Amino acid sequence: MSKHSEIKKITVNHFAKMKQENEKITCLTAYDYTSAMILDEAGIELVLVGDSLGVVMNGYENTIPVTLDEVIYHTKAVKRGLKRSFLVLDMPFGTYHESEEKALTNCIRAIKESGAEAVKIEGGAEKAPLVKKLVNSGINVMGHIGLMPQSIHTMGGFKVQGRDGVEKYIEDAKALEEAGIFSLVLEGLVADVATSVTKAVDIPTIGIGAGKGCDGQILVFHDVFGLFDDFIPKFVKRYADAKTELVKAAQDYIGDVKSSVFPDDKHSYLR
Ligand code: KIV
Repeated sequence: MSKHSEIKKITVNHFAKMKQENEKITCLTAYDYTSAMILDEAGIELVLVGDSLGVVMNGYENTIPVTLDEVIYHTKAVKRGLKRSFLVLDMPFGTYHESEEKALTNCIRAIKESGAEAVKIEGGAEKAPLVKKLVNSGINVMGHIGLMPQSIHTMGGFKVQGRDGVEKYIEDAKALEEAGIFSLVLEGLVADVATSVTKAVDIPTIGIGAGKGCDGQILVFHDVFGLFDDFIPKFVKRYADAKTELVKAAQDYIGDVKSSVFPDDKHSYLR
């Protein structure tokens, strides 16, 4: 039992403390009420309604087409399933890029309508002025650097980042920290670079494909539980094989219905 596992409701104040106390932060994505309840009951500290919902929930090729309406819809459902976990909403591509004013309007709408306690935005030092504006307006912000899926077209695809050195990432992390982010996602980053970034800042880093030197870890719900196998990145560790189980269960159901084994008297209303 860790110290923080006894806390009734995780708030933004817990994460910096967890870093100071060397306690790893556990995070997963969720997109609906039932999944949220499962993660909350398990004790996951931070739940992100990622724009990855476009891929695993809607079958889009990438996260670019995801809209603010979609993310708000899923976040509202997740919110209803959480009692203890901290809830973060991932701002989709195009909702914080046009101007700081529009970004602020969209983030305020996201927080007000969804019930999320923070937003996540992708980008390095160039996003620091926006982060400052959001934080000054009362919005908690989680940063995201390294592989940024919303920039795959300019990055030239889903490529591991950081092979070219560590300085740029440390500068980005420090600028975002200075602007007021409460935590920073490091995605698809060479492990030793992620470790150096983690050591360079006081706010916690949350890794996904960024090695064990980060202060916490996050994975996509469907990857962790083996629900999605269109592609499985190297960094994904599966803790269940739910798709195989569900296909098997569906086949058992088909067999039972076809052979009139189901419904039996136990599952019928009798006189
Ligand atoms: O959209 C997402 O799921 C993310 C991750 C950090 C997992 O941004």
